[in-house]
Amino acid sequence: MEGEVVGILTLYIGIDIDIYIDIDKSDDQNDRIFKFTLRLSGLIVDVFCDVAVVASSAAWVEKYKQEIEFLVGKICGINHIKWKPSIDLLKEEGLDISEQRDSGPAPCSGRVKVMENGICYLISLEGQKTGFYADQRDNRHLISSISKDRRVLDVCCYSGGFALNAARGGANDVIGIDSSLPSLELAKENILLNKLDPGKISFLREDATDFMKGAASRNETWDLVILDPPKLAPRRKGAASMAGRKITILRQAGAACDHPIDPAYPEGAYLTNFLLRVL
Ligand SMILES: C[S@@+](CC[C@H](N)C(=O)[O-])C[C@H]1O[C@@H](n2cnc3c(N)ncnc32)[C@H](O)[C@@H]1O
Repeated sequence: MEGEVVGILTLYIGIDIDIYIDIDKSDDQNDRIFKFTLRLSGLIVDVFCDVAVVASSAAWVEKYKQEIEFLVGKICGINHIKWKPSIDLLKEEGLDISEQRDSGPAPCSGRVKVMENGICYLISLEGQKTGFYADQRDNRHLISSISKDRRVLDVCCYSGGFALNAARGGANDVIGIDSSLPSLELAKENILLNKLDPGKISFLREDATDFMKGAASRNETWDLVILDPPKLAPRRKGAASMAGRKITILRQAGAACDHPIDPAYPEGAYLTNFLLRVL
């Protein structure tokens, strides 16, 4: 059984990684950013430059930690592996994980710099998920192409991904809001890193619901609003009908193509992204 699991891991890591290196758009391998999610749930590996961040949320992943680290360490150019267990999810599986040490020397200051769609991001390896929401790569790119001369609001902006793309795409005015202070600090550093005009883009610490209610009471409007909240409980009635507005769906998409989906496991298509026109 152990041999079988290692065989499956070798197959997925070996095959997928070659394809993703080709898909990766950055000219310089030092800027590379991509991710692969094994079709076995509970394991995510994101590669940021020479750092592989492994997010583990299943007991089987912890069991095969050594084997996974060995295989990930064989990916071309990896010098550091950051192992990030989801303590709470693992506890639900009956596994109590204490602090674990990373393999190899820790990357300087726990931060890496990557390039995606021509925009530079500082990534904190201590940040949410693996440190970066790599799955929104294509959707962030879309925003840069539809933001020109628009007023843009990025709700739940994390390190500023959608907002930075809007500013790069020529938006007149961009605001990003998030409740997490460390994420906003990164977002603000990302403005400077990309030499964007701080007069046109800003980030605020706000609760999304409070901010939207305040904006509604002030009759404040935006041409383009991005909503990328954490997973929400499904509601029977959609937000548009609750607000008495009509919408049309202009585009439906999912995660970027470096997030493979196993047709036998459609639940693996966890990210759905809609571009809506509010009428
Ligand atoms: C899926 S991430 C957003 C990723 C981001 N769009 C990107 O491209 O990198 C969700 C974000 O929602 C933020 N968040 C969670 N609850 C929030 C709340 N009540 N108000 C504002 N932001 C919140 C989290 O801090 C996190 O940064």
